[in-house]
Order: sequence, then structure tokens, then C-alpha cells
Amino acid sequence: MVNFAIVGCGHIANKHVEQIDKIEDAHLVAVCDKIPENMERFVEKYHVQAHEDLTEMLKNDDIDVVNICTPSGLHAPLTTQVANAKKHIIVEKPIALTIEDADTMIAACKENGVKLSVVHPNRFRPAVMELRKVMDEGKVGKLSHANATVRWNRNQAYYNQADWRGTKAFDGGVLMNQAIHNLDLLVWLMGDVEEVFSMDATRLRDIEAEDVSTGIVRFKNGALGVIEAATTIYPTNLEETLSVFGENGTVKIGGRTANYIEHWDIEGMEEKEVKGMIDRIESDPFGKPGHQWIIEDMISAIDENRQPIVTGDDGKKALELVLGLYRSAESHQPVKLD
Ligand SMILES: NC(=O)c1ccc[n+]([C@@H]2O[C@H](COP(=O)([O-])OP(=O)(O)OC[C@H]3O[C@@H](n4cnc5c(N)ncnc54)[C@H](O)[C@@H]3O)[C@@H](O)[C@H]2O)c1
Repeated sequence: MVNFAIVGCGHIANKHVEQIDKIEDAHLVAVCDKIPENMERFVEKYHVQAHEDLTEMLKNDDIDVVNICTPSGLHAPLTTQVANAKKHIIVEKPIALTIEDADTMIAACKENGVKLSVVHPNRFRPAVMELRKVMDEGKVGKLSHANATVRWNRNQAYYNQADWRGTKAFDGGVLMNQAIHNLDLLVWLMGDVEEVFSMDATRLRDIEAEDVSTGIVRFKNGALGVIEAATTIYPTNLEETLSVFGENGTVKIGGRTANYIEHWDIEGMEEKEVKGMIDRIESDPFGKPGHQWIIEDMISAIDENRQPIVTGDDGKKALELVLGLYRSAESHQPVKLD
């Protein structure tokens, strides 16, 4: 049995708690939030200990893993504190808001011998896993380019829910908060990024960070990428798509949240095989929830003493892409990523 605790009991904490409850060898033992009312629903339902202070919660020797679900700008100090208390960590995306913070977190986990996993759950969508499989098998061939599009709506009421939303110090804009899932997939599928160029704007929401962003990418392998991300789409979420084009294959994953195969053409793949795969995905487009994958993987990683599937370094790569796009937009210049 692996004992979990949550810090930050807002919206996304619900998903963590639901999945911990579902997993046989996971047990929720404590929650922490600086606002006591935010913990009440978990205390009532799961009879767990509630702490307003993380230092107090970390004194509990029973806790093996702490899931960090606070505003993004707090991921770094809290991760370091939890790592120093020798607990493993699952941290929500984005890993942090600066490279220095991400490096500090990764180093703190390494020094304390604890595991760090970043919640990039979209990697576990059935359609995305099928695409990754054919790319790993080399079936798509030499890559030409890819496209990541996030056309969503987050209205002013969404940003007004909490004072950290849309701020540069604690959240970031559409790239850092929403599109980072899609950018993680882009890097995971296409490889490391060499150079980016971007323009962004704050057009329709009253926030500090960007609500619309466009960017182009050159990957280290020479392939190109195009990014369009916005939370300004009227009147509601329109689409999230991910397309990959190679010499022997074209794949477009689409729908409102990139769960459906819109186009699949891979040289040498039988029509029957493709139809069977598409039917399978359409019957269960969301598959096992991504948060469940991440939590189960942490349990196995502890058991097998290996790294989690989505590591701190993976979280850092997605962050590097976002920050590169921000630097380019600010400087009006192409930016090389180290
Ligand atoms: N993986 C996903 O799909 C996904 C989806 C939504 C949000 N997120 C991420 O999850 C994080 C939280 O987002 P949310 O929507 O749940 O936010 P939220 O505002 O609903 O919840 C944050 C909670 O953290 C608490 N908190 C703030 N500072 C604290 C501190 N110092 N100690 C303890 N608790 C503290 C707040 O009181 C609040 O209850 C963000 O990093 C966000 O990017 C991820």
C-alpha cells in the first residue's frame, strides 16, 4: 500500500483524490490547504487528516507520496520542501514557471533520493498512444512537420475564479496553462526543439499573460512545427488537434480535446487494421484517465525502484518550449533553445 497526501485542495485535486480512491494499492491519508473550507469535502468523505500547514503535514511518517495541486507558481518551493521531507512527488503541470525553479526541483528530488513525476496526462490518451507507437516503429518515416492547435474558451469568469489565474508570476497564459499539454505531446513525439519564433497577444481577456499565441518551431531533427493556442474562441471550446506529417504517414488527432483520429494514413498499414483501431478508439476515446496512469505509475516506480514515465526532465522540456516562445514573442526575434 502506498500512502498519498494532497497539497492544494482546489479543482484539480478532485481528480487526484478520485483516482487514489479507485486504485487498490493507493490510500489517501492527509490533505493540506491554506483555506480550511477547501479541505472539508475530502475530510468528510475520506476521513483524512487536514492540515493548514504543509510543515505539519510532512511530519506524518506514513505519507509516501505528496501530490502538489497548488497554483503553478508555488510548485517549486513546495516540491523542494516535500523532497527535503523525503516524500515522493507528483506535481501538476506546468512543472514550474522558470527553468531555474524546475532545475531546483529536479535537483532537490535527486539529492533526497525521491521520485518526481509531472502530470502530463494527455500522453495516455488512446489515440495519442497509437500515434506514438507507429512513430516509435519508424512507420511515419522522415518527419516533415507537425501542428498543434488549441482553440478553446476560458471566459473572464474562469480567470476571475482565483487571483493567481492569468498572472505571469503564478500561472502564465494559454501556452503555460492550457496548451502546455499539447506542447508536451509535440516534443514527446517530434523530439527536442532547436529554435522557435512566436507572436502572442492579450486580446479578449482582462489578464496579465497572453490569451492567444502563434508560434513556429524547428526541431533538432530538422522537422518544423506550427503552434496556435487561444482561450478566446467564441463561444466555447472548438478544437484541440495534433497533426504529424512524415514521408510515409499522415495522422491528425482531433476533436475538442484531441481524443479522436480524424485522419490516419500510414504506408503498409492494412485498411482493416486501421479501421479496427479507429473503432476501438471511438468506443472509448478517453481510455483510462491520465491521472490514474500517473498515480499507478508512481506506485510501480516506487515498487520497482525506477524513474516514473513522465519525469521532471520531461516537464522541463515542455516548460523550455513555452519559455522559448515567450522570449521570442517579447523580443520579436527567433530564439534558440539550449
Ligand atoms: N493536469 C491537468 O489537466 C490540470 C487541470 C487543471 C489544473 N491543473 C494545474 O493544477 C494546479 C492547480 O489548479 P486548480 O485549477 O486546481 O487551482 P485552484 O485555484 O482551484 O486550487 C488551488 C488550491 O491550492 C490552495 N493553495 C494555494 N496556496 C497554497 C499553499 N501555499 N499551501 C496549500 N494550499 C495552497 C488554494 O487554497 C486552492 O484550494 C495548477 O498548477 C494548474 O495548472 C492541471
